[in-house]
Amino acid sequence: MRLGRKDFLKGLGVAALGATSASVMDAARPAPADRPRGLLPFESKNPAPFWNRVRDLYARRDDFAYLNSGGLGPASRPVLEKYDQVTADLDLKVETGHAMHEPARKVAAEFFGVTPEEVCFVRNTTEGNSIVACGLNMKAGDEVIFESHAHPGGSIPWLNRAHRQGIVVRTFEPDPSSAAGNLERISALITPRTKVIQISHVTAPTGIVMPVKAIAKLAREKGCWFHVDGAQSGGMLNFSLRDIGCDSYATSGHKWIGAPRETGLLFIRRDRIDEVAPTFVGAYTSDDFSFSGKLVYVDGVKRHEYGTRNTALIMGVAEAMRFHDEIGRQRVLDYGTDLAWRVHRGLERIPRVTVLTPSVPELRAAITTFAVEGATAAKIFGYLLDRHQLRCRPVTEDGLQAVRVSTHVFNTANECDRVVQGVTEFVRTL
Ligand SMILES: Cc1ncc(COP(=O)(O)O)c(C=O)c1O
Repeated sequence: MRLGRKDFLKGLGVAALGATSASVMDAARPAPADRPRGLLPFESKNPAPFWNRVRDLYARRDDFAYLNSGGLGPASRPVLEKYDQVTADLDLKVETGHAMHEPARKVAAEFFGVTPEEVCFVRNTTEGNSIVACGLNMKAGDEVIFESHAHPGGSIPWLNRAHRQGIVVRTFEPDPSSAAGNLERISALITPRTKVIQISHVTAPTGIVMPVKAIAKLAREKGCWFHVDGAQSGGMLNFSLRDIGCDSYATSGHKWIGAPRETGLLFIRRDRIDEVAPTFVGAYTSDDFSFSGKLVYVDGVKRHEYGTRNTALIMGVAEAMRFHDEIGRQRVLDYGTDLAWRVHRGLERIPRVTVLTPSVPELRAAITTFAVEGATAAKIFGYLLDRHQLRCRPVTEDGLQAVRVSTHVFNTANECDRVVQGVTEFVRTL
């Protein structure tokens, strides 16, 4: 059963979340335990009611399965309600709500296991990647390594720098069979000119989970900066950035985290913040400057957060993270991964289908990418969408012709079976 807005509000135990019902500062505070986000208690013996309730907290159409959280993730109703509430409150007061960024920053820092000084809100992963790529001190001839499957939001910031300043890009093909293989491929590219290693935590085309902790160790030993493109890992995997040990990390709110669109987060390790020269600056970058040339940056990564921002978006990020925490981070990962295995096992049995996502458990999570012999990505993708109302994502990066299926908290086993059925029928048409 789907919830209407009225039932949903009743479920939250509040009379209304109207425009003026909560104060702006209330919106900034973490929700008290007696105001849950409409979830049910989790019963491990019978988890179905819990997950059905999660699913009901998303706007959706019963005849249409959305399987592309790796591209754009829907926001849950509690997140959208928060966004609307903060927008309305701030509009009523005609305030920016800038003071609310700090409590939201604390939530975001806790979500990633780091401190508030180490994070800032950006507009998407690409912006976080760009801040790092533009800000590190590199000269013509210095080298950066990343994988050939890097998304344009990860590669183009570096290609731009190569184009403008002559830094050298070196790429490797990800190894889908072992973590050690990926480490070896990176090691083989390191030279005395290597200044930066950047890796997608989970690769966008085929969902390979990279051994980022081991790469961080390697980068440290070699004196390289290690940046993680976390567009596909924030909100999918359960990890702490401190534990990984990377120097910087960027992610999007609007994918697996389920925050509103045009949101993201950048982390830079405390002791290395000054090594990333700010490219975009303005109000809030410095509170100690003069026209005779003095410019002292504010403490922390938030020096990269300049000018007027949409505070409702930032509060939406914090709310989405609380929503994850309330479901349970490991539970989110396990649920999405179990569904992905269901897709994987089903597809493996279909003739002419090759699953490109690794079948080694530690190298994969909630993404499953497959190719069909003799078919283009566009053809498979179009068939699944038009004939079966299954919204996946075509994959053409690095010459691939494949389709990616992302499985998240609002997806179901039935939707996974529909993918398998749809691909089975597609193959019969060839
Ligand atoms: C690995 C990776 N990096 C960067 C991006 C770009 O994300 P955004 O458009 O949110 O900046 C994506 C988007 O899918 C991605 O998968």
